[in-house]
Amino acid sequence: MSSSTPNKSLLDLATQKLVESQVWRSIFRHGYPDTPLNQSLVMMGNVFLHLHPVKVSRQAMKITYTWCMGGISFFLFLLLTITGVFLMFYYVPSVDTAYQNINQLQSVVAFANLTRNMHRWAAHLMVVSVSLHMIRVFYHGAYKPPREFNWVVGVLLFFVTLFLSFTGYLLPWDQIAIWAITVGTNLAPYTPLLGDAVYKVLVGGGAVGQETLIRFYVGHVILLPLAGALLMAVHFWRIRKDGGAAGPPPPSRRELEARADLEKAPAGSTR
Ligand code: HEM
Repeated sequence: MSSSTPNKSLLDLATQKLVESQVWRSIFRHGYPDTPLNQSLVMMGNVFLHLHPVKVSRQAMKITYTWCMGGISFFLFLLLTITGVFLMFYYVPSVDTAYQNINQLQSVVAFANLTRNMHRWAAHLMVVSVSLHMIRVFYHGAYKPPREFNWVVGVLLFFVTLFLSFTGYLLPWDQIAIWAITVGTNLAPYTPLLGDAVYKVLVGGGAVGQETLIRFYVGHVILLPLAGALLMAVHFWRIRKDGGAAGPPPPSRRELEARADLEKAPAGSTR
C-alpha cells in the first residue's frame, strides 16, 4: 500500500485497480465527466452519446415541446422494418397468389395476424406522426436557419413515408388495393411534360398488373426503406450539428426589462 493512500478500503483499492487497468481505459478514455471539457470528450467518445449534441436547451428537452413526434416516427419505422421482414418470409408478389398468401397468412401462420396488423397500424400511425412532427416543427419556426437544410431533408422523408404507404397498399392485391392504385396511378399522366413516361415507370405497362405489383414490391421493401434510412441518418446527424431541437427564442430586451421592473417593485405593489 502506498504512503499516500493509508485510509483506503479494500473496495476503494479494487475500484482504483479496475479504473487504472488497460481494459477499462481502452473503453472509458476520459475519466468522470465533471468538467465542461471532460463532458464534451465523454460525449464525443461514446457511440451512443455522440448522437446527441454536447449541450441542449432545457426547454426543448420537455416532452410537451416536441411531443417526441420525430422519435415516435423513428420508432414506427423500426417496428415496420422488423414486422415487414417477418411478412416477407410468406408473401410472394404474384398477382395469382398474393391475395391467397395474405389470407392464409392470417389464419394459418402463428402470430402472422398480429404481425400483419402491427405492420398496417404502424404504417397508418407513421403517416400521422410524421405529419404532426412536420406541423410541430413549422409551428416552432424550427425550419429557420441553421435548420433549413434539415427541413428539406424532412420534406423528402415525408414523401418517402407517403410513398411507402402508397406502395404497401397494393401488395395484398385485393379489390380495394387494385382500384385505389388504379385511381392513384391515373393521376400520373397529368404530370406536366413527362406524364406518359411517369405513368409507364410507375405502372410498368399499359394498365395496373403483374409489372406494377413487382415494381411496387421492390420499391416498398428495398428502394424506399433504403432511401428512408439514409435520409434519417442525415436528418439525425444534422439535428446534432444544429445543436439539438431548437428551443424557444431567448427573451427580448423588452421582456427582460419588464421582468427586472417586476423584481424591483415593492411587495404588494400592483405595478
Ligand atoms: C421519417 C420521418 C422523420 C423522422 C424519423 C424524424 C425524426 C426527427 C427527430 C427524432 C427529431 C428531434 C426532435 C423531435 O423529435 O421533434 C427531428 C427534428 C427535426 N425534424 Fe424530423 N423526422 C422526420 C420527418 C421530418 C419532416 C417531414 C420534417 C419537415 C418537413 C422534419 C423536419 C425536422 C426539423 C427541421 C427538425 C429540427 C427541429 C428542431 O430543431 O426543433 N422531419 N426529426
